[in-house]
Amino acid sequence: MGRLFATVSGKGGVGKSTVCCMLARALSQNARVLLVDLDRGLGSLDIMLGVSDKIVFDLSDMLSLKKSEDEVIQHIDNIDLIPAPTGEIDFKALREYLFKAAERYEFVLVDFPAGLNTAAVSQMPRFCEFLLIVCPNAISCRAAASFADMLVGGDMCEPRLIINRFNYKTLKHSKTATKNLDDIVNESRVRLLGIVSEDKNVELLYKGGFPKQKSPAYRCINKIAARLCFEDVPLTALKKL
Ligand SMILES: Nc1ncnc2c1ncn2[C@@H]1O[C@H](COP(=O)(O)OP(=O)(O)OP(=O)(O)O)[C@@H](O)[C@H]1O
Ligand SMILES: [Mg+2]
Repeated sequence: MGRLFATVSGKGGVGKSTVCCMLARALSQNARVLLVDLDRGLGSLDIMLGVSDKIVFDLSDMLSLKKSEDEVIQHIDNIDLIPAPTGEIDFKALREYLFKAAERYEFVLVDFPAGLNTAAVSQMPRFCEFLLIVCPNAISCRAAASFADMLVGGDMCEPRLIINRFNYKTLKHSKTATKNLDDIVNESRVRLLGIVSEDKNVELLYKGGFPKQKSPAYRCINKIAARLCFEDVPLTALKKL
């Protein structure tokens, strides 16, 4: 049985899709990965994976049985992408589909839209592991805490925190960096999984490219992917991020 992850945030624009796309790339180096874009009408994974001009059908077509999986899925190396729905989603049908997909793929990653999305969350299979993405600011941490409360209330798996767009110099000038990192984890009330650097190379994703293995953000993502695969990878010293 494969693993199922969902990138979520509460607050929009914190980097859910960026992290989801790069994690899929990292995990697909050794495994088959299915990516599901859940951001109705605002999907971005097709652009980030360079297949936007090939999309004809999408998740809503597949779940409503108007189109088959083969007609909907885009293949990008070891990644299969189900493009974002343009119409209503039947969340019960999505839930059934995800159960079956987890039997065929080693990793299934679902990229959520911004917001609390209680309807979608409540229909996710119980084995779904939520990756809560935050930026280092109080508003996104508060939104993450609300999301985490909802997951606990809904009896879902304990979420893990990914701090995105981390910039040591910026934080250093507010208080101390360590204090700020503690603040972020405390305010989000979620266990830390990893930190992703602020990195202008991620803009390549919007230009049909992909950050190099050695780019700061992708190095962080590779570490997070390894941790998700139960490898013991220590946190990088904050100054080096
Ligand atoms: N680590 C990073 N370094 C620099 N820029 C980043 C980083 N992560 C994300 N960004 C930028 O932040 C913006 C928002 O990213 P993204 O679309 O992934 O967020 P999102 O949470 O999926 O947004 P939405 O809530 O609208 O779905 C993009 O311009 C992206 O390039
Ligand atoms: Mg997004």
